[in-house]
Amino acid sequence: MEIKLSKDYEKLSSLVAIIVAAQILENPQSKLVLPTGSTPLGMYEELVRRKLDWSLVETFNLDEYIMNPDHPYSYHSYRPTLSFEDKMNVNKGIDLCILGIGSNGHIAFNEPGSSFKSRTRVVDLSEQTIQDNSRFFDSIDDVPKQAITMGLGTIMESKRIILMANGKHKLNILKVAMNGEVTEDVPASILQKHNDAEVFYCD
Ligand code: F6R
Repeated sequence: MEIKLSKDYEKLSSLVAIIVAAQILENPQSKLVLPTGSTPLGMYEELVRRKLDWSLVETFNLDEYIMNPDHPYSYHSYRPTLSFEDKMNVNKGIDLCILGIGSNGHIAFNEPGSSFKSRTRVVDLSEQTIQDNSRFFDSIDDVPKQAITMGLGTIMESKRIILMANGKHKLNILKVAMNGEVTEDVPASILQKHNDAEVFYCD
């Protein structure tokens, strides 16, 4: 799979924001799956600047820590969480899913070894993810050990998928995931099997 290089983080953010905006303009009732984490923050800022009409758009969180929902680092505080799996089945599918990638190749919180058929479920976070995400918390002991995540099988049912990655530390895992073997050991590698998935990167 081609890894499309953006000049800088601003370009990456605006490129993906334009894709989201175009989707909403084309279909004001779009169903979107959106990530949290650090990578999409610039995209959200750009989307806010665009003052789109979100009134009919449905958004679904990719994942959610299992913790007090009022905690500032609960993804719940980032955007409301919905029971998206039920809703997607009822409503026949997600139009656009935006993803980040973990340093271990996870997408959403589908850690290495997750089944390609997995659905929304509770998972244990890997040591690597707990370590990586400790930067958002006062101490590593405060990082939740479990999360609810959309499954790989669920993500793959999205009509269109965009994965965004920022930083040199993501390049190696991106290359492995997009050009290496398709294996459950590298969850993001499943995207090679999607017929409308694109990867955008800046270093
Ligand atoms: C977050 C999510 C995760 C992150 C990944 C990268 O909703 O699904 O898979 O996208 O851990 O996180 P950042 O962007 O902080 O490097």
